[in-house]
Amino acid sequence: MTRIFSGVKPTGHLTLGNYLGAVRRWADVDQHSADALFCVVDLHALTVDHDPGRVRRLSRQAATLLLASGLDPKLCTVFVQSHVDEHARLSYLLECVASDGEMRRMIQYKEKAARERTRGGSVRLSLLTYPVLMAADILAYGTAEVPVGDDQTQHVELARDLAVRFNQRYGHTFVVPRATHPVVATRVMNLQEPTSKMGKSEDVGPGIVYLLDEPEVIRKKVMRAVTDSGRDVVYDPEGRPGVSNLLEILAACESGNPEGLAGVYESYGSLKKDTAEAVVELLRPVQERHSELCADPAYVEGVLRDGAEKAREMARPTVDAAYRAIGLLSPA
Ligand code: AMP
Ligand code: TRP
Repeated sequence: MTRIFSGVKPTGHLTLGNYLGAVRRWADVDQHSADALFCVVDLHALTVDHDPGRVRRLSRQAATLLLASGLDPKLCTVFVQSHVDEHARLSYLLECVASDGEMRRMIQYKEKAARERTRGGSVRLSLLTYPVLMAADILAYGTAEVPVGDDQTQHVELARDLAVRFNQRYGHTFVVPRATHPVVATRVMNLQEPTSKMGKSEDVGPGIVYLLDEPEVIRKKVMRAVTDSGRDVVYDPEGRPGVSNLLEILAACESGNPEGLAGVYESYGSLKKDTAEAVVELLRPVQERHSELCADPAYVEGVLRDGAEKAREMARPTVDAAYRAIGLLSPA
């Protein structure tokens, strides 16, 4: 059976972008068709300025939301990255295979490092090495497919390169993974700034729909979305990013296609209204299940405990093999 691995960072509240770009597909497709692991990648949340209590709260919330979105521990493995030592163990070996130039070319590193510097802060070394830890997340499990949004393509490419390089130098150890993306909404854009990704860690609130936003808040955010000059509804992500983003969101909610939907609407107002309702309805069951699960924290903890145990067993043989292959003496 195909092995699938993916993760979400607890750096902020989960957004509609996370859901449409990744989590919904994990629940609807991936867990049914493959041997899949889904991880709250908390170590990655330490790469930028962070508050310990907040990371802990967001990690619990992200795990709860994954389950509320339909991930079923009977079908897949749900766990928290820091509960499984193999990730950090393997990351160091992969740092010995990666080059610093390769790390400095990563688009997300360049963008986030520049942002930190303009704020006058220092850039954590872990921000530079983060894609290596992500490669370790993936390679430790013999992962073949990594279902992610479009923004992670370059990181998954790096994981491929490191797997190939390690295998060539030290003998076949890792499966070479590939990224898979949803058909629509692979990059949901910020409603207020439709040329930037709807990212959870930015502080511009009104353009970001969070999975736990109240229906009224969702309606307000969608109705106030920035649209483009012009009146007609056309799907043209380059020329009309605002309207095209709404069409993508609506298409993703209704399993339609954005070009087809463009022909159905005569005004921005009616497109916004239908998109707002579609998002409210899409998130309603997730929110209901989330409040049920919040009332039963022991269940969520149990899922994470069992998940970590299963994950550890899956990762250990591959990581041990990598330690041997690279030249480290096995403990007696
Ligand atoms: P992150 O929030 O960066 O941990 O991302 C978790 C998953 O959600 C990754 O697979 C991302 O590619 C995906 N994702 C995050 N933001 C978006 C977005 N705006 N559109 C589509 N996918 C996204
Ligand atoms: N870097 C990913 C993101 O920001 C999160 C992530 C960490 C991940 N490790 C992973 C995704 C392994 C897929 C596989 O979205």
